[in-house]
Amino acid sequence: MTTPASCRVGVIGAGYVGLTTAACLAHLGHEVRCSDRDTARVELLSSGRIPIFEEGLEDLIRTGLASGHLAFGANNTWAVEDAEFTLLCLPTPEGPDGGPDMSVVEAVATEIGPHLKDESIVVNKSTVPVGSADGVARVLGRSDVRIVSNPEFLREGSAVHDFLHPDRIVIGALDEETAVRVSGLFAGTDAPVVFTNPVTAETIKYASNAFLAAKVSFVNAVAALCEAVGADVRQVCVGMGLDPRIGSSFLHPGPGWGGSCFPKDTVALVRIAEEAGYDFSLLKGVIAVNQEQYDRVAQKAARLAGGSLSGVRVGLWGVTFKARTDDLRSSPALEVARRLVEAGATVTAYDPTLRRAVEGIEVVFDAYAACEGASVVVLATEWDEFRWLDFDKVGSAMARRAIVDARNLLDPAALRRAGFEYEGIGIL
Ligand code: UDX
Repeated sequence: MTTPASCRVGVIGAGYVGLTTAACLAHLGHEVRCSDRDTARVELLSSGRIPIFEEGLEDLIRTGLASGHLAFGANNTWAVEDAEFTLLCLPTPEGPDGGPDMSVVEAVATEIGPHLKDESIVVNKSTVPVGSADGVARVLGRSDVRIVSNPEFLREGSAVHDFLHPDRIVIGALDEETAVRVSGLFAGTDAPVVFTNPVTAETIKYASNAFLAAKVSFVNAVAALCEAVGADVRQVCVGMGLDPRIGSSFLHPGPGWGGSCFPKDTVALVRIAEEAGYDFSLLKGVIAVNQEQYDRVAQKAARLAGGSLSGVRVGLWGVTFKARTDDLRSSPALEVARRLVEAGATVTAYDPTLRRAVEGIEVVFDAYAACEGASVVVLATEWDEFRWLDFDKVGSAMARRAIVDARNLLDPAALRRAGFEYEGIGIL
């Protein structure tokens, strides 16, 4: 795409998506005001620091603040006044019935409606129930303002890269002129644009996340099959991944998928489908396989600990839901830890980004300290540093040499030579 014309943009919500969006749009040359109701967060951001761990984001925010292209405030009205585009980057947590809770989006829409610039565009980046654009339009109460769905596909850990080098930009609008105006926001990035209606755009977002979750559940199920029949899942994945229709990415077995999106969005999509009269049984299976995967990892630990976890010390390497983030939301590591504790184990955890207490487990600041006196260690997050540990030192610290490598990160042969009992996922 070509160089953008600079636009005034309001971003509501300085969470993970809002911050990345605001910083990247400022980087692309727009004048961005980003608001959040959390005043402490706003103060921190205004001083050029960020409350999350995300590669490249802090630098981008500092550059934006210094150039005057980016500003933070606690007032939504300030963010949207004179803005040609208002981007909603708000939380839609899982509600009590499994469906997404829209109360924050609706409250903000009610608040900003009267203050939006005439003929401006509201762009929804939150993952909202299919068909929500109509509801948001009603709450806004502005017939001159257009509502567009523009879902984000940002991966934590590479969100800045994903925003500036997207695989695709999905714009769900009811008329072409609005869609073209929104696409101008992304001028300066180069990606195919899918122009469609809002309902289809919202469905693309849910379907993409559900498909990726299905791919991981599938490979985790294949790993279980490999263990049963004596195959090696690593080679199965190489063989499968060479088929371009399958592809090798998202084909790594692990402790199950987690994070801020997959668990919430898969449950939401089952619910959305149900309400629309479709029983999405395939997706229910994907979710069930994921729950089983947490159980399977805990069972492996029990097996290596000699059959029972009662009174056993377990070391946990990695607590975040994946490497290169500090995010603990729906972390498979914590799901496994909970099962270990329920079975009577004491869990001592180390994660390179974890500097606070976590309920139910002891947190230490060193990988070796985590395995002190442990009968088994579970490697749950694929932090690279775990590859390079001194495994003799690890073994000496442990009560017995046993490792569950739930990410297939380590070298089984080397560990077995060093006297460890080793169990990976789908590896004999
Ligand atoms: C995801 C989507 O990728 C992104 O497009 C969307 O907008 C938000 O949700 P993210 O939550 O950052 O991004 O995590 P992602 O990298 O997709 O991983 C999701 C989970 O699947 C993690 O728990 C990860 O460890 C697991 N995973 C992923 C595997 O176990 N194996 C794989 O091969 C890939």
